[in-house]
Amino acid sequence: MMANSNSIRDSDSDSEAGSKGKQKALEPTPPGTLSDYFPAKGERALSIGKTGSGKTLFNRWLLERLPDSPTIIYDTKHDPKFDRLPHHHVATTLDGVYEGLENLANDYIIVRPPPLYVASPQALDGLLLRHENEWRGIDAYIDELYHFHSGGRAGPGLSGLYTRGRSRGITTIGSTQRPAWVSGFVFSETQLFYLFRLTRESDRKKVNDFIPNFSDLPALKRFGFYAHRDDSEEETPKLMEPIPVDEKEKLGYTDHLETPEAANSETETEADQTPPNVWI
Ligand SMILES: Nc1ncnc2c1ncn2[C@@H]1O[C@H](COP(=O)(O)OP(=O)(O)O)[C@@H](O)[C@H]1O
Ligand SMILES: [Mg+2]
Repeated sequence: MMANSNSIRDSDSDSEAGSKGKQKALEPTPPGTLSDYFPAKGERALSIGKTGSGKTLFNRWLLERLPDSPTIIYDTKHDPKFDRLPHHHVATTLDGVYEGLENLANDYIIVRPPPLYVASPQALDGLLLRHENEWRGIDAYIDELYHFHSGGRAGPGLSGLYTRGRSRGITTIGSTQRPAWVSGFVFSETQLFYLFRLTRESDRKKVNDFIPNFSDLPALKRFGFYAHRDDSEEETPKLMEPIPVDEKEKLGYTDHLETPEAANSETETEADQTPPNVWI
């Protein structure tokens, strides 16, 4: 279903600077009523789900539909799935980010900091501080929010994006496999939630604190999810079908081959309850 680069370039020729041509090349209607749950400019969205639940492929699908260009992707997990995005530029240094931003042909700047950098929440969060101050109007995607946290607290960069994103014209899409480690502040500043399969007790409890009727929702089928808009009249999150994924990508992964029992419950160890990062 993914358009190839040529068709995107062709359709891009008459578009204004700063808007992605790619959107026109993709099928316009998302499955179900998902179009009601697209982030508007400056809004914050959050995808939540255990590893292998389908978050990243969904988020990538969403990123392909953001109308503005470029988008900066903070890919601290170095996930090759983002390499399939058309017109992307990979940056492993700050200079690399500036280089990517200078070339207007780039629709996505994929930021992949080196491992030592990823181990420091302060250093990572500094990138988001810079984003808020220098890269206004440019949307942000953060693939693992807890990397930008320490001891359960969001750093000033992440908090800034979530507090002032709207006034800076920055749409922020975050994602996490461990919502228990993401601050309540991030939850309360989020308008749109995409809720994938989640099994750990502490994670489900955290989500339950912010999403109405979450604990009563029927179990999800694999790669399905619930969508919820915080300021809507709707009390209960809406069930969504999995996004379509091509065969090659379906085959590319084995971690999610789990028994149905394992999919619906998980024993929590002490280590699971301790966030990995602590401010020094
Ligand atoms: N909608 C989908 N349909 C079919 N397979 C999917 C779908 N979403 C994800 N997958 C499969 O699951 C794997 C993990 O998906 P991913 O989005 O990386 O999960 P997460 O980011 O939650 O860990 C993918 O590589 C793919 O094989
Ligand atoms: Mg992922």
